[in-house]
Amino acid sequence: MGSIQITPSILNADFAALGAEVGRIGSADWVHVDVMDNHFVPNLTFGPTMVEALSKATDVPLDAHLMIEAPDQHAPAYVEAGCASVTFHVEAAKAPVRLARELRAKGARASMALKPATPIEPYEDLLPELDMVLLMTVEPGFGGQRFLDLVLPKIRRARALMDKHGVETWLQVDGGISLDTIERCAEAGADVFVAGSAVYSADDPDAMVAALRARAESAVSS
Ligand code: DX5
Ligand code: ZN
Repeated sequence: MGSIQITPSILNADFAALGAEVGRIGSADWVHVDVMDNHFVPNLTFGPTMVEALSKATDVPLDAHLMIEAPDQHAPAYVEAGCASVTFHVEAAKAPVRLARELRAKGARASMALKPATPIEPYEDLLPELDMVLLMTVEPGFGGQRFLDLVLPKIRRARALMDKHGVETWLQVDGGISLDTIERCAEAGADVFVAGSAVYSADDPDAMVAALRARAESAVSS
């Protein structure tokens, strides 16, 4: 398991002031950018042009989460837009191994996301091809949803598979992560934590990043 990383999602930030909004989370490890196409999920956000503008507005690296159809075609553009990590959904990818290799060849970390009902076991052999696995802890599409405890056993199983293969793959959780839910995810083996509404509804977003980090670290050190 890697060190604890906190990755605020800007989905619940002020879209009219994104440059300033990323400036409010200076201690974050990554900025999580949720790209939605109104097909893979019933919501629409932004594309590579906007992501490229955002990458120029912050020194914090960008972690793109692509909730889009046809990631095989569209994901590489997000590396070119300045994302240091690009996550595609396995439910949408036609050739996930080829896509992960292409993302890595372009210089990004390659990551694969699973919706809550998608099992990890069929993808065990892909782990060495991936820098991160994202386990959704809500159905993708919207911020502010309630954390799904039913994903906790899958977090444990994913961590066990990573240990078995001896890979350095990070394990990210996304959806409903807050001071109330982050500990159980850390205990189950997650090490990278997306938090959208918890961070951007706080009066001091950067203080919430620190509080989330402290709570996750204490869960794994006890
Ligand atoms: C949901 C997105 C999440 C979302 C998280 O589909 O992938 O990244 O912004 O928001 P919260 O933390 O509010 O669940
Ligand atoms: Zn996300």
